Amino acid sequence: MATIGKDIEKACELLCADELVAIPTETVYGLAGNALSLAAIDKIYTTKMRPRQNPLILHAPNIASIRPTILNFPQIAYDLAAAFWPGPLTLILPKSNLIPDELTAQQDSVAIRIPDHPLTLELLQALPFPLAAPSANPYGYISPTCPEHVEKQLGNNIKYILDGGTCRRGIESTIVGFEDETPVILRQGVITEKDILRISGTIKLAQEHAKIVTAGMSKSHYSPLTPLYLCSDIVTILPRYLDRNIGIISLNQFFEDINADHQIRLSLANDLNEAAKNLYAAMNHLDTLGLEIILTEYLPNEGVGKAMNDRLDRAAHKVLN
Ligand code: TXA
Ligand code: MG
Repeated sequence: MATIGKDIEKACELLCADELVAIPTETVYGLAGNALSLAAIDKIYTTKMRPRQNPLILHAPNIASIRPTILNFPQIAYDLAAAFWPGPLTLILPKSNLIPDELTAQQDSVAIRIPDHPLTLELLQALPFPLAAPSANPYGYISPTCPEHVEKQLGNNIKYILDGGTCRRGIESTIVGFEDETPVILRQGVITEKDILRISGTIKLAQEHAKIVTAGMSKSHYSPLTPLYLCSDIVTILPRYLDRNIGIISLNQFFEDINADHQIRLSLANDLNEAAKNLYAAMNHLDTLGLEIILTEYLPNEGVGKAMNDRLDRAAHKVLN
C-alpha cells in the first residue's frame, strides 16, 4: 500500500532517490519520477507496464526551467504557453541534449507542460530537476482523478501519493505539436480547438496529418475492465439490455428501470466541464461493481465534449447503432 499525504518534503526525498511519487494535477494524477534520471524513467515504464516506444511528458514549474530542456521555443509555441500555462496544455518542442533519449522514446522532440495545481507547482519548484509524469494508471486503463484511484491501481508498486484532492478538470491535457509555425492538435483536451485558434489564427487536426504520431492516439485506451458499450442515444438502445446486469453513464438522464446505484449522471446542470471532471470517476466506480456491461452515450460534440467523445471512442469495447 502507498501512503497518501500532503508532505512535499517527503515527496522530494523520494524523488531525489529515484523513487516514483504519484502527483496531483488539474487534469489527472501523474506517476512522477526525475525526468533526467534513467533509473527513474525505467521505473515509470515498468510500473505503468507502458510500451517503451510511448514517450513521457515532462512537467516543470516555469518557462525559465523549461528553456534548457529545449532547442528553441517557436514564437507560436511561446504565445500558446503564455496564454495557457500553468494549465492543461502540452506542447511538443525540439528537445535539447539535457533530455535523455529514453524519456522521449528516441524522438528528437519532448512533450512539456506546466500543470496548474498548487501542491505540484510547489513540489516542482522545490526540486532541482523536472518531473516525467504520464497518467498514473496501468497502461490502457482509466486515468485516475483522485488519490484513491491511484492507490487502487498502482498502490502496490509505489510508496507515496501526494494528496491534492479530486482533479478539477478530469481529462488529460490537450497535446499540440507544430508543423512549421502551425499548431497541430495531437490529443483533444479541456483546451479546445477554438481556444488554440484564438491565439494562433490557424490550426491543423492530427487525423489529416499522419506525420506526427503520438501514442495517446492509439485506438484502445482509457478502458474499464467491464465492457463499455457506447451509443448515440441510451433511450433507444436500453430495451435490448434490460435483462442484463448493466450500469449507465449519462449526461443527466435517470432511467427508472435501472438500479439507481448502477447509474451515474455526469452533470445534472448539463455542464460539460462538470461532466468531464466526473467522467473517469464514473467509469472507475462502475468498474468496481461487477457489472456485465457499462452503457453510455456520446456527449454533445462541442467544447470539452469533443475530448470526452474522443476518450469514450477509445474506451469503448463496442459502438452500438
Ligand atoms: O494531462 C496530462 O497530460 C497528464 C498529466 C499527468 O499531466 N499526463 C498524461 O500523460 O496524460 P500520458 O503519458 O498518459 O499521455 C501523454 C501522451 C502520450 O500519449 C505520449 O505518446 C504523448 O503524450 N507524447 C509524449 N511525448 C511525445 C512526443 N515527443 N511527441 C508526440 N507525442 C508525445
Ligand atoms: Mg495516459
